Amino acid sequence: MIETRPIHNLALIGFMGAGKSSVGHAVADRLRFDFLDTDELIESQAGKSIAELFAEAGEPAFRERERQVVQQLSQRTRTVIATGGGLPASAQNLADLRAHSLVVYLWASPEMLWERVRFQAHRPLLHDPDPLARIRTLLTARDPFYRQADVLVNTERRAVIEVAQHVISQFRLAVSDR
Ligand code: S3P
Repeated sequence: MIETRPIHNLALIGFMGAGKSSVGHAVADRLRFDFLDTDELIESQAGKSIAELFAEAGEPAFRERERQVVQQLSQRTRTVIATGGGLPASAQNLADLRAHSLVVYLWASPEMLWERVRFQAHRPLLHDPDPLARIRTLLTARDPFYRQADVLVNTERRAVIEVAQHVISQFRLAVSDR
């Protein structure tokens, strides 16, 4: 049961490779909502890629930019927000998302996440001699935050459209509940 609070948007959280962007686009298309990706917003505001930001100023500076972007979202309505994988690992960021969004955790196992991201090179945190071990460690640390979502959706062996439909029905349920 989701306590009564304003729900104007949908925030998708979860690890890298969870499908936040692909599911987010599919959900936004079907609900006729805007789609917003926090990484893209950071990149456009900084004029630099995430990889450049990590390389030049380090992870703490990137997290500070995430914090600023979350604060810019408070007036959004009818928006599907795909968050960077590490963004919800902050009680304050999570609380700010919950102030206007139904928060949905897209879950997958570490092995599946690695399968999905292994041929993509743009994520600095996975530049590691043992990326799967890195995924496991990060996931263990973040899981308590991710699990504070309103809804948990298993994406393990599901097509994007199937996950999107599930997210939409959960959203409709939550909105009609109030
Ligand atoms: C990160 C996830 C990335 C991006 C950055 C850090 C993380 O976003 O924000 O590379 O800490 O998990 P995606 O989850 O969209 O890949």
